[in-house]
Amino acid sequence: MKALVLAGGSGTRLRPITHTSAKQLVPVANKPVLFYGLEAIAAAGITEVGLVVGGTQAEIEAVVGDGSAFGLQVTYLRQEAPLGLAHGVLIAREFLGDDDFVMYLGDNFIVGGINGLVERFARARPAAQVMLTRVGDPRRFGVAELDASGRVVGLEEKPVRPRSDLALVGVYLFSPAVHAAVAELKPSWRGELEITDAIQWLIEAGLRVDSSVISGYWKDTGNVTDMLEVNRLVLESLDARADGRVDGASELIGRVVVEPGASVERSRVVGPAIIGAGARVRDSYVGPYTSIGAGCVITESEIEYSIVLPRASIDGVGRIEASLIGHDVEVTPAPHLPRAHRLVLGDHSKVQIRS
Ligand code: TTP
Repeated sequence: MKALVLAGGSGTRLRPITHTSAKQLVPVANKPVLFYGLEAIAAAGITEVGLVVGGTQAEIEAVVGDGSAFGLQVTYLRQEAPLGLAHGVLIAREFLGDDDFVMYLGDNFIVGGINGLVERFARARPAAQVMLTRVGDPRRFGVAELDASGRVVGLEEKPVRPRSDLALVGVYLFSPAVHAAVAELKPSWRGELEITDAIQWLIEAGLRVDSSVISGYWKDTGNVTDMLEVNRLVLESLDARADGRVDGASELIGRVVVEPGASVERSRVVGPAIIGAGARVRDSYVGPYTSIGAGCVITESEIEYSIVLPRASIDGVGRIEASLIGHDVEVTPAPHLPRAHRLVLGDHSKVQIRS
């Protein structure tokens, strides 16, 4: 069995972060979200991975390399434009050969790994196996209709009148039968080759599509709210560790990780939280569910339930919550007068200011 990991896409929902970097590399507890998926694939005993990449290939290649750090052999598959998940399968045709494969969306986060799913597929050998989860608002997802035995009898992308509350999660298992389906697809109204259409094609061809309902936690980290939520969840399982320097005037409460080379001075850090390598926290409060990236500088500020990417500096600002702050960003107080906000914001930035 091989793996096909999709790490291209346009990432419009995570702008402006995705104007300058890959959304799959946004860190969760200071580790790129993509790494959790690659680790789950390696843990399932799969070694050959095709990594579908787009315009952010160089950045992804710089951190994933040949995959050996994960115990994987990674082949990069360049997708010229984000033409859909099924287009990812189409361009991987040669790499996949006639092997079964697991398709894993590089921005999805699944607790509990994929071992059970892979074993089940290998035993039953259906044409495809999808993973489902119950959701509150199925109209935002690909939705599956099942028969009494759990076989998928129909799929619909973002239905107006959903036939169930079972949404597709970003892990799919396929036999080589999917290639015939993908080869026949026409772009959907949004101009993409849809994987739901490919699976629907298999069903209509009389082939078996199995499903399993995920019991653990799953999130698509495609937007800021979900990203912060996944960060919260991963931080919950941290073990406290202070490898950096914490002065006597500081207090670390609960599960706090201070990475090597980081320093905490005259500050209070309430876990779960992580302070990245070489970061400096001075005269500040870092609250629960916060990841401070490597090399950040937090001075005379308060921050909670947030992700701060490497080398950002936050200096002298009251309190920041529920925020995603990019690489090398500077947040500073404005001069006392005039009472004005001074902003240099990239395209598609979002700022909420309390007036
Ligand atoms: P999505 O989040 O569905 O799509 P997107 O990245 O274009 O994001 P947005 O909706 O915010 O614009 O993609 C799921 C995963 O699949 C993600 O890791 C990107 C990847 N992907 C590809 O590799 N190729 C593609 O053509 C598409 C659509 C997605």
